[in-house]
Amino acid sequence: MKPFPLLLGVLAAQSLPRSRLPFAFRTARDAATFAAMSGELTVGFLGAGKMATALAKGFLRAGLVAADRLIASDVAAGARQVFAQETGARAVSDNAEVTRDAEVLIVAVKPAQVVEVLAALKPEIGARHLVISIAAGVPLARLEAALPPGTRVIRVMPNTPALVGAGAAAFSLGTAARAEDGALAQRLLSAVGLALEVKEPLLDAVTGVSGSGPAFGYLMIEALSDGGVAAGLPRDVATKLAAQTLLGAARMVLDTGLHPGALKDLVTSPGGTTIEGVHELEKAGVRAGLMNAVRAAADKARKLGQS
Ligand SMILES: NC(=O)c1ccc[n+]([C@@H]2O[C@H](COP(=O)([O-])OP(=O)(O)OC[C@H]3O[C@@H](n4cnc5c(N)ncnc54)[C@H](OP(=O)(O)O)[C@@H]3O)[C@@H](O)[C@H]2O)c1
Repeated sequence: MKPFPLLLGVLAAQSLPRSRLPFAFRTARDAATFAAMSGELTVGFLGAGKMATALAKGFLRAGLVAADRLIASDVAAGARQVFAQETGARAVSDNAEVTRDAEVLIVAVKPAQVVEVLAALKPEIGARHLVISIAAGVPLARLEAALPPGTRVIRVMPNTPALVGAGAAAFSLGTAARAEDGALAQRLLSAVGLALEVKEPLLDAVTGVSGSGPAFGYLMIEALSDGGVAAGLPRDVATKLAAQTLLGAARMVLDTGLHPGALKDLVTSPGGTTIEGVHELEKAGVRAGLMNAVRAAADKARKLGQS
């Protein structure tokens, strides 16, 4: 493919604010802001599994919190051991110990266990706590009902790429949560990717786009790889190229701020190879298929939230 002077010019002309770069964390400034906002808060995880460990590592990496200001609890000895090894922070068996030591409580047990865990801790939870739930599909109303009246609660819909620091999360504030609580959640979640605040009813749509979206992306990568193999590439080469290409396309959208259609136009030269492929995608209804996939996943999330 030929270089495209227009695209290169557009990129060169962009003076990108660092805040538009989701994977570049401004460690020094964020650490200072966090310290100022938090006043040396301790962050505690209820549940020390995969997500808790990934988030804790992200907080440490970004300099948002020191290991001696992190604590996690878990019923499983194996999870405690992994958390402690990976973070250098304390992992205990008693949820109440975390509640006593930490002001920010991140609820990271499976959705089915959330209400039971919070209800058991209700006498220990007070005005000094901010409760942040990352449990998929557990509404704010259920979280708030399990906690003392007036508890500040935030509900997060994270996604699995948070495990590799490239998450896309959305969060919603509960009835008693304040703007600064939202700012704190934003800072913490930004340590493992992108984080955006939305109104709670939109979290079902978020589930459709970024919660279920990684599976749609994997399917696209697999299909692109199959195409590469059909065209003669070894499987490992085809899969790496396909994955890196989607990563690169995503970075172009996020880093330039250009409309994806404009970026597509910039790489479809007249009579060239790419427009041939685009025509095949349009004939196959790929756009409608992806839209339907997001809508179906969002509808399902809405139904699950009501049941
Ligand atoms: N994994 C993801 O990428 C992802 C993405 C989006 C949202 N989430 C949400 O994040 C939450 C955690 O997911 P995960 O993948 O990290 O799960 P996980 O690895 O299974 O971690 C949960 C941990 O909590 C422990 N646990 C169970 N009951 C407990 C209790 N009463 N008190 C303390 N700990 C308890 C579990 O032990 P046992 O194994 O013995 O039960 C497990 O070690 C879930 O609510 C999920 O919906 C995860």
